[in-house]
Amino acid sequence: MRCYLQAFLLCMVFIFFSLVYVFNQLASTLEDSDGWGLKEQGIPGGRSHDDGHLLRKRPGLAGRDHEEGLDRERSSSPGKHHSDERSHVAVVACGTRLEETLTMLKSAVILSKKPLHFYIFAEDDLHEPFKNALDSWPRTAQTKFNFTIYPITFPEENAKEWKKLFKPCASQRLFLPLILKEVDSLLYVDTDIIFLQPVEDIWALLSQFDSSHLAAMAPEHEEPRIGWYNRFARHPYYGKTGINSGVMLMNMTRLREKSFKNDMTTVPLKWEEILMPLLQKYKLNITWGDQDLLNIIFHHNPESLYLFPCQWNYRPDHCIYGSNCQQADQEGVFILHGNRGVYHNEKQPAFRAVYEAIQKYPFGENMETSLLQPLEASLLTTTNSYCGRASHLFTKKLKQSILSVQQEVTQRR
Ligand SMILES: *[C@@H]1O[C@H](CO)[C@@H](O)[C@H](O)[C@H]1NC(C)=O
Ligand SMILES: *[C@@H]1O[C@H](CO)[C@@H](O)[C@H](O)[C@H]1NC(C)=O
Ligand SMILES: *[C@@H]1O[C@H](CO)[C@@H](O)[C@H](O)[C@H]1NC(C)=O
Repeated sequence: MRCYLQAFLLCMVFIFFSLVYVFNQLASTLEDSDGWGLKEQGIPGGRSHDDGHLLRKRPGLAGRDHEEGLDRERSSSPGKHHSDERSHVAVVACGTRLEETLTMLKSAVILSKKPLHFYIFAEDDLHEPFKNALDSWPRTAQTKFNFTIYPITFPEENAKEWKKLFKPCASQRLFLPLILKEVDSLLYVDTDIIFLQPVEDIWALLSQFDSSHLAAMAPEHEEPRIGWYNRFARHPYYGKTGINSGVMLMNMTRLREKSFKNDMTTVPLKWEEILMPLLQKYKLNITWGDQDLLNIIFHHNPESLYLFPCQWNYRPDHCIYGSNCQQADQEGVFILHGNRGVYHNEKQPAFRAVYEAIQKYPFGENMETSLLQPLEASLLTTTNSYCGRASHLFTKKLKQSILSVQQEVTQRR
């Protein structure tokens, strides 16, 4: 009998201590998330994204959690925890795209007034050059952004298959919601785009999403007679002419949560589940790689796409046979997209002129006299082409953006 009593008491003591332990853990977890409100939105603290990685790798080490919590608090204390002002921009750079990518990033930095975070996915041999170039920019530019460089990676399951079926860089963007798990929203851009207005302006479109929107893109074409998808595609595509994925705004929280209707199974599939079967089914029929897969997905889930007008993703197709982007005719071009290599060849001198003007502009110089005016002068030499004749649209918004940045600089003095 005494023996039972002893065992019972021992049990009680054990349960008591277990409860104390659990309570302690709970308290420290709560404290932790209070101390780092951003975590809930899935956005890493104020500094480099690498820390997010570290944290993610050891979620189970409760003992360390508290320590890290303190660390986080310290690092993000000046900014407090109110809403994130930053625009988060991702790009995938491979091969010879280093200089082009830097020029894109430069256009973002010189025109934006709000802070930026860059997620640069690059082949390993480009990591050092990227870091060195960005670290060499003047302090005044550097205070406007933070950046993190990532290797090209795929989710472990199927990594081999993805690498085999696509050029590694081509499909990377599809996996951003799965790689940047703690990032809420992201603007993905191709390396060959140039911002002609502050990044925060396109970022603001996120707040215009209705409850079903989870991504925003521009149509692939304005004019069905020269559209590619409606004439040649051997797979479903979005809307009348498809969508172009060179400028893609995503609410990745929603992308990760959503189950997508599809033509492979009767049950809707999560983002991480849909990509592989989609590729398997359509790999013989797709031409433009991951953009085609996005077209198929949004064909079946059109309510999830917010379609923004062509001046947010203005390509040679919009002026090559005369201007066909109405919104740009009215308000100017917001984001220029020099696809098919036009920044580097002779085919569209007006596109190339914009690229070179941004590339050559010396940081810190007066943007009106050292960027806008030289650009306007060189655009005048391109009027023998259709796009050259539309090139006043290239500087219309840029001029306003420059004035507005300069105004802010004078006000601060
Ligand atoms: C970059 O990170 C530093 C260190 O965490 C932070 O203080 C700063 O506000 C960040 N800058 C931007 C533009 O986000
Ligand atoms: C993205 O969607 C989530 C879930 O609906 C929402 O909580 C979050 O605020 C959205 N992010 C932005 C930047 O609008
Ligand atoms: C691929 O294209 C061929 C030829 O147009 C078509 O018959 C076939 O149905 C397509 N495959 C899929 C999966 O749509």
